[in-house]
Amino acid sequence: MLTVVAIDIFFYYFVLITALALLLGSAVFMFYRTYAMISGAPYAGTKKVRVDKMIELADLQDGQKVVDLGSGDGRILIAAAKAAKVKCVGYELDFLMWLWSIYKVKRAGLSDRIKIYRRSYWPADLRDFDTVFLFLIPYKMGRMEKKLQSELCPGTRVISHGFKFPNWQPEKKEERILVYQMTS
Ligand SMILES: C[S@@+](CC[C@H](N)C(=O)[O-])C[C@H]1O[C@@H](n2cnc3c(N)ncnc32)[C@H](O)[C@@H]1O
Repeated sequence: MLTVVAIDIFFYYFVLITALALLLGSAVFMFYRTYAMISGAPYAGTKKVRVDKMIELADLQDGQKVVDLGSGDGRILIAAAKAAKVKCVGYELDFLMWLWSIYKVKRAGLSDRIKIYRRSYWPADLRDFDTVFLFLIPYKMGRMEKKLQSELCPGTRVISHGFKFPNWQPEKKEERILVYQMTS
């Protein structure tokens, strides 16, 4: 009898804790997805063929510094670090994506060359970077254009997946990838 009651209590707490964990996980997931959507863009991973195209168009050289604004699961940074001996930085607001990206970077053995910050890219200082990758949303492109214009040095390459800046002319456009080069 005592054993049956103990099993019942164990089962009750097991179900309760599992439900609470699922509820908490979903709340964290929804919170960060909404937060990211308001602050920049919701998560959508770039397809492998486009990652490869972005890396090809970036023409990365050893020793350069690369940033991905909204680095998601880290796929662009990992591909960049594999393509050349570059130092990579990512900014990712979503805690779960950030955690996943840190794991992927570690698994790829690239932790010494890829640093991913779990914070917004808007206050970040971007003046040291040679290449900027981004995959934003149309209504944030104007604000980002102003930020990049005021911070990036001449010669810096900006590779935008999907969306164009309102005032700049791309030097190249292939598939859905636009390449810009800072002139002043
Ligand atoms: C469209 S996804 C691109 C992910 C990745 N760069 C790729 O191409 O696979 C945009 C990412 O930006 C993140 N994000 C949105 N606003 C942000 C902000 N203000 N600062 C940092 N990351 C942000 C989102 O959480 C999401 O992971």
